[in-house]
Amino acid sequence: MKATAIANSNIALVKYWGKRNEELILPYNSSISMTLDKLYTTTTVEFSKKYSKDELTIDGEKISGEELERVERQLNLIRRTAKVSEKAKIASASNFPKAAGLASSASAFAALTLAATKALDLHLPKKELSIIARQGSGSACRSIYGGFVEWQKGTLENGEDSYAMQVAPQNHWPELCMIVNVLTPKQKKIKSRAGMAQTIATSPLYKAWLETVESDLEKVRSGILEKKFPLLGQTAEMNALKMHSTMITTEPHIIYWEPETIVMMKEVMQLREEATECYFTIDGGPQVKVLCLEKDAKKIEKRFSEMKEVQKTFLCKTGGDAKLIDMELF
Ligand code: PMV
Repeated sequence: MKATAIANSNIALVKYWGKRNEELILPYNSSISMTLDKLYTTTTVEFSKKYSKDELTIDGEKISGEELERVERQLNLIRRTAKVSEKAKIASASNFPKAAGLASSASAFAALTLAATKALDLHLPKKELSIIARQGSGSACRSIYGGFVEWQKGTLENGEDSYAMQVAPQNHWPELCMIVNVLTPKQKKIKSRAGMAQTIATSPLYKAWLETVESDLEKVRSGILEKKFPLLGQTAEMNALKMHSTMITTEPHIIYWEPETIVMMKEVMQLREEATECYFTIDGGPQVKVLCLEKDAKKIEKRFSEMKEVQKTFLCKTGGDAKLIDMELF
């Protein structure tokens, strides 16, 4: 009744922003992401009669309150599927700061889902894992897969057709890199769940955002499959700016950017002026992730790491599927 899994985080190239069903986590729009090899979460889960309640540690720290409740909800879903009632001990560790806009909940809920279902001997296909992971954190459904991944929004009310699928495998485009810049490891103030609800309720731009997503999905899909870097990069950068425009125009405004975020966006634009092709994307936090090709990656990473705004860089390529491992965290 014990298992450990490792899942990579993923960064969306066409973003998911807004739920049509809060309870089941069903999105208004489909999204496409790149799974990252260098950012990951490892999670060990053990179910046993010896535990009187669910116990959670993250990066060695005992967790209670809302974060624990979220994990308990996810475990309840898995316990119901396996028809067991044992409580669990969960230990989770990530190699990057959590809740700072680096998709820590994506890798965390993907690893938790895989480890917990295995610990209860539920050998589920990836589609089912993706559906369960989605209910922990929407973006987690994409971290079940490596490579490039599309989360199909689905149309059914029960969410059975809302899951992720691989667009292209991990080895499809080895030259494509994403440099993740950690600017400020502060935890974000507005969680994506609340941010999305506020955007739908108050941003006059939300409808316009939804109207352009289908065409962005098409461009990003073909950018990936045909390895057209400018098409992929330009579309992803514009898509992120459109999502942030919906956030900025909510009441009250949601501005995830810090001054360092803007400095970095300008730096990417400056690199392009110098004929170095690269494009940025930003999620629900201040961090700036930069798409580039391998031939330029080292040079760009060096330039970023010399900036006073940048605390740490991760030079990533496409990562693999979430998987079970032998190592245990306790
Ligand atoms: O899955 P959540 O609730 O962490 O939301 C993720 C939202 C964004 O990171 C902003 C976009 C995305 O598609 O990952």
